[in-house]
Amino acid sequence: MILALETSCDDTCAAVVTREGEIRSNVVSSQGVHARFGGVVPEWASRHHLELVNLVVDQAMEGSSWDELDAIAVTQGPGLVGALLVGVATAKGLAASRRLPLIPVNHLQGHVAANFLGGFEPPFLCLVASGGHTFLARVTDHRGYETLGQTLDDAAGEAFDKGARLLGLGYPGGPALSKLALEGDPTAFKFPIAARVAGLDFSFAGLKTALLYKVRDLGDEAEGLKADLAASYEHAIVEALMLRVERALEGENEPRLAIGGGVAANRLLRERAQSLGVPVHVPPHALCTDNAAMIASAARYLEPTPYPDYLALDAYATKRAA
Ligand code: KG4
Ligand code: ZN
Repeated sequence: MILALETSCDDTCAAVVTREGEIRSNVVSSQGVHARFGGVVPEWASRHHLELVNLVVDQAMEGSSWDELDAIAVTQGPGLVGALLVGVATAKGLAASRRLPLIPVNHLQGHVAANFLGGFEPPFLCLVASGGHTFLARVTDHRGYETLGQTLDDAAGEAFDKGARLLGLGYPGGPALSKLALEGDPTAFKFPIAARVAGLDFSFAGLKTALLYKVRDLGDEAEGLKADLAASYEHAIVEALMLRVERALEGENEPRLAIGGGVAANRLLRERAQSLGVPVHVPPHALCTDNAAMIASAARYLEPTPYPDYLALDAYATKRAA
């Protein structure tokens, strides 16, 4: 049985998962404190992780015994380095005090491994779209993946958040923008989907700028057209994602698709994915957004580092090959 910690951004997470992939607990404490700044404040996130991490671990361990654990897993990166360090230091301390091995996990591999918890097994293509990352991967085994494409600028969730901000909606903006979009016409405005970016890479910076200019051009009229703007903007993000997914699926012998990350909660994206005509797996919402069960899931297939070899283990902020 594995206890996993995840503190790469603003959610303090701990989970207990059995070697077979049964989720015993999956605790997420979201730090609502960032909303008023319209984004995550890194230093603040670290401090909150420090305050919350022990409580979250205790809660995750309720009903389980420490003797049942055979390893502690933790997100090592990528993410906010101060936030990651809280998880890494806590995991090292917990593991060392019980002489347990430690399993460092790449956060992005965690998003991919969330699918294994639902029994969706490789090979499959995986689209991960969240506030921090957007990439398309070919998953052929449980320990890694091949990146087929990734965003050249903003992440898809970031595009939702920035669009929502421009339209005067709250943070995080994805759910609010999507809700408003239900009342609007997705064909009212034509926003760019970076179709000219060849291959499987994504780009959302132009889309955000197009919305900015459109709102400016509309002036006072924009307020009354907000739902149409939201619907058209959401439509463009989803189409931009699906264009790359369709391109990638065309090249597969056995096309199957999994979707993860916070944006996988999006209704339109789910609908579009389900209509592709290939087997599609979308984990439950709690396993799409940042959580520690997905980190434990990935850890099940990785080599544990024995005590005391991990005591000097460090976090890393930027992407490294998974
Ligand atoms: O995976 P996640 O919880 O955290 C990160 O690792 O970033 O993803 C959060 C992102 C935010 O950008 C949020 O706006 C977006 O996911 N999101 C949505 C929806 N729910 C969350 N975007 C579009 N539609 C939604 N329903
Ligand atoms: Zn994430």
